[in-house]
Amino acid sequence: MKNLTRRSFIKTGTMATIGMGMLSDPGYASEASAKNVRIAVIGTGNRGTGHVHNLLTIEGVEIVAVCDLEEIRARNAADLCVKAGRKKPAIYAGDHFAYRNLLDKEKTDAVIIATYWDSHTAIAVETLNRGAYPGIEVPAALTVEDTWKLVETSEKTGIPCMMLENWSFRQDNLAALNMKRLGLFGEIVHCHCAHSHDCIDHWFFDSKTGDQRWPAEYLLKYNRDQYPTHSVGPVISWMDINRGDIFTEIYSTASASTGINSYFNKKFGPDHANSKIKWKQGDIVTSLLKTRSGKTLVINYDMQLPRPYSNRWLLEGTLGVYDEEKSSIYLTDLSPKYHEWEQWKPYEVQYNHKWWQADLSSQSHGGTDYVMMNEFINSVKAKGPAPIDVYDSAVMTAIVELSGLSIEKNAPVPFPDFTKGKWQTNKPYFALDRSL
Ligand SMILES: NC(=O)c1ccc[n+]([C@@H]2O[C@H](COP(=O)([O-])OP(=O)(O)OC[C@H]3O[C@@H](n4cnc5c(N)ncnc54)[C@H](O)[C@@H]3O)[C@@H](O)[C@H]2O)c1
Repeated sequence: MKNLTRRSFIKTGTMATIGMGMLSDPGYASEASAKNVRIAVIGTGNRGTGHVHNLLTIEGVEIVAVCDLEEIRARNAADLCVKAGRKKPAIYAGDHFAYRNLLDKEKTDAVIIATYWDSHTAIAVETLNRGAYPGIEVPAALTVEDTWKLVETSEKTGIPCMMLENWSFRQDNLAALNMKRLGLFGEIVHCHCAHSHDCIDHWFFDSKTGDQRWPAEYLLKYNRDQYPTHSVGPVISWMDINRGDIFTEIYSTASASTGINSYFNKKFGPDHANSKIKWKQGDIVTSLLKTRSGKTLVINYDMQLPRPYSNRWLLEGTLGVYDEEKSSIYLTDLSPKYHEWEQWKPYEVQYNHKWWQADLSSQSHGGTDYVMMNEFINSVKAKGPAPIDVYDSAVMTAIVELSGLSIEKNAPVPFPDFTKGKWQTNKPYFALDRSL
């Protein structure tokens, strides 16, 4: 970053002042009550167990119940609480509806839902109807109809409903959001994002046997962006979606499906059943979304080819561009050399978000999961709005079904307005940072 010239310093300083006036804190942290919040965790597999670990590091939380289809998993999660010196949570297990007993018997303030995708919405709706906050793993729903159910139930009950999209809380993404809100990128014009994560060798299938795990079913039945929320999470705030702008349409297209067969052929041989199956899911899905004000966004689903992890976030405006994959930035008013990239890291430090003041690097996902859960818990303690509201959760979630519909029709499809017009007057909300 070059030393600020007088012109750019005044400009940045002015933006910072405007920023301070414009940004206000959602305020839930300051109102938090001293009482422990009573939490249940439904679905204690990999991710649910991770949430239990995280919750045990947050003050003022009591895990009162755990639930899983498999009793052993619920027991393991309960044991973690005991090992941490906490009261043993009640255990619910045995079938797909054991969670209903839990919701009926335990008076919870919030419920973390980390089950298979097909049960997220039903459990969340029942949680809302009992007056507790659902924190739903990604994606919150699989259809637009179910997404509307979440929006309408949250509106009817007045209880916030948050999808636990952790990448929205990443330190780099939040610093970029702070900078965007200070006007350093000018007017935002275009963004790009991806979920490039080879999950064939471990998540969709068992790595040792190659057996299908539960998510593999979706690769057989659908061709769509199966997992858009990690890529699009931070981007919706960069683009002011639901707060001054809105997605109007989505056009998606898919490549051929060859990665899964190729993986099985190479690792398990041509006779393995998964080498021969005709998978419906294309390897790369590219979606192009347009907004009412004319911004564009490209999203890539990319989870079945061998490759290192990447999100390829790109934020481009009239005064500059941030490229996450290059870890680089170029700003007209601040970069030392005309049209030359400079390192991103000093900017991340300078515009560090207030949620990232402590060193959290030893926590899961480098601290991101802790920051997300801590903010969710703060909102529950204060009975305030959740850090990600139901409308933002809905927009991220709806891409699953809409991308599939667009691929099927080979045409753009309209994007629903989950806010029912409120996007025109809603003010920026997610992660407002008064410390700027
Ligand atoms: N945010 C992230 O970084 C991240 C990472 C991994 C997974 N996830 C999400 O977390 C969720 C769980 O994924 P996972 O990898 O932990 O899967 P998993 O298979 O390890 O765990 C899912 C658990 O849910 C249980 N379950 C399913 N239906 C249930 C029901 N009706 N009642 C009670 N228990 C039920 C299963 O028995 C299993 O133990 C998914 O939505 C996934 O997309 C998110």
